[in-house]
Amino acid sequence: MIDWHCHLLPGVDDGSKNFDESLAMGRLLIEAGFTEVYCTPHCLHGAYDNTPQRVQQATASLQQAFQEADLNLRLHPGMEYYLDEMFIQNIDQVQPLGDTRLVLVEAPQQARPEVLTDALFQLRRHKWIPVIAHPERCILFDQACSGRDVSAVTLLGKLWPFRKKSSPQGMPVKQTFLQVLVNMGCRFQGNISSFAGLYGPEVRQQAHAHLICGLYDYFGTDGHDARSLKRNLSRGLEKLAEAKASGNPKESSCKL
Ligand SMILES: [Fe+2]
Repeated sequence: MIDWHCHLLPGVDDGSKNFDESLAMGRLLIEAGFTEVYCTPHCLHGAYDNTPQRVQQATASLQQAFQEADLNLRLHPGMEYYLDEMFIQNIDQVQPLGDTRLVLVEAPQQARPEVLTDALFQLRRHKWIPVIAHPERCILFDQACSGRDVSAVTLLGKLWPFRKKSSPQGMPVKQTFLQVLVNMGCRFQGNISSFAGLYGPEVRQQAHAHLICGLYDYFGTDGHDARSLKRNLSRGLEKLAEAKASGNPKESSCKL
């Protein structure tokens, strides 16, 4: 299993505080079945001014510490970019997820959609593939079906007017903001803990809705510390597996 989003690097953001904590987090990830982790500290102008060079060095140091501690976990450098107006200024120096073309980005809760789409468009122009972190936690991406019945059949029915193609009745097609992003080529990463209810029932329902629609391409722990990982990781994985089994996301695969 791969953790696509984790604040595992010590002392670079609000995640792990030191090497000991990173090692404790690593042990929990291995116990849960992870073999690879993308280390994705925040990059937020004025708060966490992380650079690709700093993250690459920190990842290499932590990988060395893991090897010395006999922890078999492969680490890759990454970043979680906060998509505010400042992001575009540094778009020429982006740290992707390892050696992929994927760039993990986070939408500010209060973001104006045009600021967000502009930043995402610029990323696409530079041939990057934006991966939107935990869309279930951001109100901008709420689906019409949120907070209601999340069974596959009713969801498909409710989402029909929002799908790309015309309905059989020839109804006009509405584009949701989420669908605009899908059509731009964005990808989506769900937080495993969202399925355990870590962020509350509304986020959990939204995560279910996204899962059933086949929105998610990747999952991550978004782990910030060992205590929280210990409390939520195994339960989150359990609930995610249950949701996948009950919703048949592959079969529905409507992706909006
Ligand atoms: Fe994060």
